[in-house]
Amino acid sequence: MTSILITGGAGFIGSNFAHFVARAHPDWRLVVLDKLTYAGRRENLQDLEGRHPGFEFVQGDIADAAVVAKVMPGCHFVVNFAAETHVDRSLYQAGDFIQTDVYGAFVLLEEARRTKELKRFVQISTDEVYGSVETGSSVETDPLMPRNPYSASKAGGDRLAYSYFATYGVPVIVTRASNNYGPYQYPEKVIPLFVTHAIDDIPLPLYGDGMNVRDWLHVDDHCRGVDLLLEKGVPGETYNIGGGNEVPNIELTKRVLKLLGKPESLIRPVTDRPGHDRRYSLSCGKLRSLGWAPRVPFEEGLKATVDWYREHESWWRPIKEQSPAFKEHYQRNYKA
Ligand code: NAD
Ligand code: DAU
Repeated sequence: MTSILITGGAGFIGSNFAHFVARAHPDWRLVVLDKLTYAGRRENLQDLEGRHPGFEFVQGDIADAAVVAKVMPGCHFVVNFAAETHVDRSLYQAGDFIQTDVYGAFVLLEEARRTKELKRFVQISTDEVYGSVETGSSVETDPLMPRNPYSASKAGGDRLAYSYFATYGVPVIVTRASNNYGPYQYPEKVIPLFVTHAIDDIPLPLYGDGMNVRDWLHVDDHCRGVDLLLEKGVPGETYNIGGGNEVPNIELTKRVLKLLGKPESLIRPVTDRPGHDRRYSLSCGKLRSLGWAPRVPFEEGLKATVDWYREHESWWRPIKEQSPAFKEHYQRNYKA
């Protein structure tokens, strides 16, 4: 039986990917390893736990070699989503990012060297490793120029993974995706933060002049891309995965408000993020040549996402109103 290990599978993209794999490959054994940090929620997997044959959840740290040595042997695929992921948090607690995003990746890769059955080890990196792209679009061979502790840690994991291919022949594939959106995204990230704030008529803290550009990729399109690479990705290669929806933050904010029927007077310009990358932009011809293209039009995906948060208050309200991790970050970051 084919086995896949999904690390960070209780987070936003990882839980969407676990559901995707369960649908696309119902006969696979599917193990999720997740530390359940503030961003990981076991309830994100409740449709799989006890319901999907072959599904197993293990709470543990990717930086813990003993746990990794229990869950990886026998696996044919490993997809490493586990990471500290929020840029703003990396500005005041970089150590956690280095520990998980670099050292954790190292622990997984060491075990991968010993895992004879392994066909692909997918290291989920990010478009942020290219740094701010003022003009044009990044191709996979461009130099890396990460500019914040999060993206620098991800660049470390990204190149460390490649080194295990080059040095030991581990069948590593690296992916660099653009900004994901969709259901189950922790509400500190801009779309769920702004949607849930707007629902409650709380001002939306827009950084700087609001003209920073992000390229929005629906999480389902991201999952399809990663799944395709399990089959068709070439070991040692890196693949960009972008949505092709480059939107300045101010425009995104206005679209969210319009979808909710809320006034633009809710927009509150606040002090910019230090080192705020102006723009990311990916050239995705390499993945497209394998037959992938994003399918979710941004207008539809954004509307569906706004509707999801409207309909799932029981998912996000406890985080925003009761979680110390959310509140402490919010007060510190926004001086609220
Ligand atoms: P997330 O913060 O929602 O989830 C991260 C998950 O990793 C959580 O479940 C958390 O508990 C788990 N985790 C953290 N540290 C761990 C550790 N030491 N051991 C085991 N589990 C641990 O993140 P996300 O947005 O779903 O991002 C997933 C991956 O995709 C990350 O590697 C991120 O860098 C990458 N990525 C994200 C985006 C995006 O827009 N969200 C875009 C490109 C790449
Ligand atoms: O580009 C891929 C990256 O996208 C991933 O690697 C990261 O894990 C993910 O968090 C995301 O990083 P960003 O920093 O782009 O995402 P965030 O949602 O934090 O911010 C998106 C944009 O919105 C960015 O330009 C900053 C701005 N912003 C964000 C917040 C939280 C605001 O203006 N106000 C805010 O309160």
